[in-house]
Amino acid sequence: MILIFLGAPGVGKGTQAKLIMKKYQIPQISTGDILRDAVRNNTPLGQKAQDYMNKGLLVPDEVVIGIIEERFKESSCKSGFILDGFPRTIPQAESLDKVLDKLDIRLDQAINFEVEKEILIKRLSGRRLCKNCGQMYNIYFNAPSREGICDQCEGELFQRKDDTLETIQERLHVYQVQTEPLIEYYQSKKKLATIAADKDQDTIFNQLCNLLGN
Ligand code: AP5
Repeated sequence: MILIFLGAPGVGKGTQAKLIMKKYQIPQISTGDILRDAVRNNTPLGQKAQDYMNKGLLVPDEVVIGIIEERFKESSCKSGFILDGFPRTIPQAESLDKVLDKLDIRLDQAINFEVEKEILIKRLSGRRLCKNCGQMYNIYFNAPSREGICDQCEGELFQRKDDTLETIQERLHVYQVQTEPLIEYYQSKKKLATIAADKDQDTIFNQLCNLLGN
């Protein structure tokens, strides 16, 4: 199964991708996670990406397309994958089409998650992550039992650098200008499904499973 998760920053793509990954046993390919790892490890890719990410801008298409092409070659992708945060521009979508054609595989569905802006801002500004195990929390919707400490491993929680109010506004603007046109792109290919993602995580997950088939 090959899925694309579309939607504005904070809509819950990563949260749902992890649940789908577990249930359907297919990997989540998050370009955001791959880029953040590269920044953390100060690799040449990370050095290229860091400034864009901190400003809330998109990393250049050719860089991200290269990452995806490499990732598809891994054996874990053989039975499918969830693309979380890719494509994000029309040129990225066109490149993806070409790569899938070359590999002779077919996209099943692009799923567009929709949430209104005020909720997105709360989800992003309230997001906290564990430094140790990566578990995600939200101080407004899913707070840890002890402030700043992970329930699972007692690791320290931190806030992503791009989750400040100013950068969130920029990311939402960039989404509207560069990524939103993908809704029309996949609609015209009759590959688009839309999920109202303003509900709780379990309700959204059930809606997704109904859509994908159990
Ligand atoms: P990326 O990491 O992809 O960030 P994003 O798209 O901005 O999305 P987020 O990870 O912020 O949100 P999400 O939708 O996954 O929500 P989540 O599940 O975490 O990209 C970061 C940067 O990398 C980009 O700005 C860009 O610079 C670069 N980049 C990445 N891909 C690129 C590409 N293809 N091209 C160019 N550049 C690229 O949830 C958010 C919060 O809400 C959490 O706290 C969570 O607990 C909470 N939450 C989730 N679901 C619910 C719910 N149902 N109810 C209440 N709270 C919820």
